[in-house]
Amino acid sequence: MIKETLTIITSNQGKYKEYREKLGGHYKQVEMADVGYPEIQAEELKEVVEFALEVLSERSPLIIDDSGLFVDSLNGFPGVYSSYVMKTLGCDGILSLMENRKDRGSRFECVIGYLGERKKIFKGISRGTITQEKKGTGGFGYDPIFQPEESEKTYAEMSSNEKNRISHRGRAMEKLLDFVASK
Ligand code: IMP
Repeated sequence: MIKETLTIITSNQGKYKEYREKLGGHYKQVEMADVGYPEIQAEELKEVVEFALEVLSERSPLIIDDSGLFVDSLNGFPGVYSSYVMKTLGCDGILSLMENRKDRGSRFECVIGYLGERKKIFKGISRGTITQEKKGTGGFGYDPIFQPEESEKTYAEMSSNEKNRISHRGRAMEKLLDFVASK
């Protein structure tokens, strides 16, 4: 069933593109709203999302998305600090921290906070490895250094449709679609 307008609260064009491509066929319109919301410092992405949903309720139905890269051999760093670390160290900084490390296992997590008739949280995880060097020019953020285990390519070497099929965000969106379809 085609539903009404869904608002994605984000300032990140890359995230918005992924939402529009996957959810576009399920809503009349998927629009982006770059409105700030308080991002509390928390141990888990879920806590950040739950707090923000309270503040944004008048724009429902809406989605907020908090994601992060968790590197096994760095004890989950940058994790909930992914945004700050991207601004300060960037992909090159992560590659430097990983120099000479054999264990390059890592995961991306995406937590979608959805506010419709009800508030719901959907989580998606994708596992993969940190590459030895940056590869690809697509995507955003840590995409050039993350190779999901299902592929020989980094996310930055994929189209957003390809990435959506296997990514943390794509998986969280699948759960959201199942929930919306069951209503
Ligand atoms: P946030 O969810 O916008 O707070 O994202 C935290 C950081 O992780 C930002 O620097 C994003 O660019 C990065 N990030 C979030 N999602 C992805 C992704 O799907 N691929 C690569 N980097 C991401």
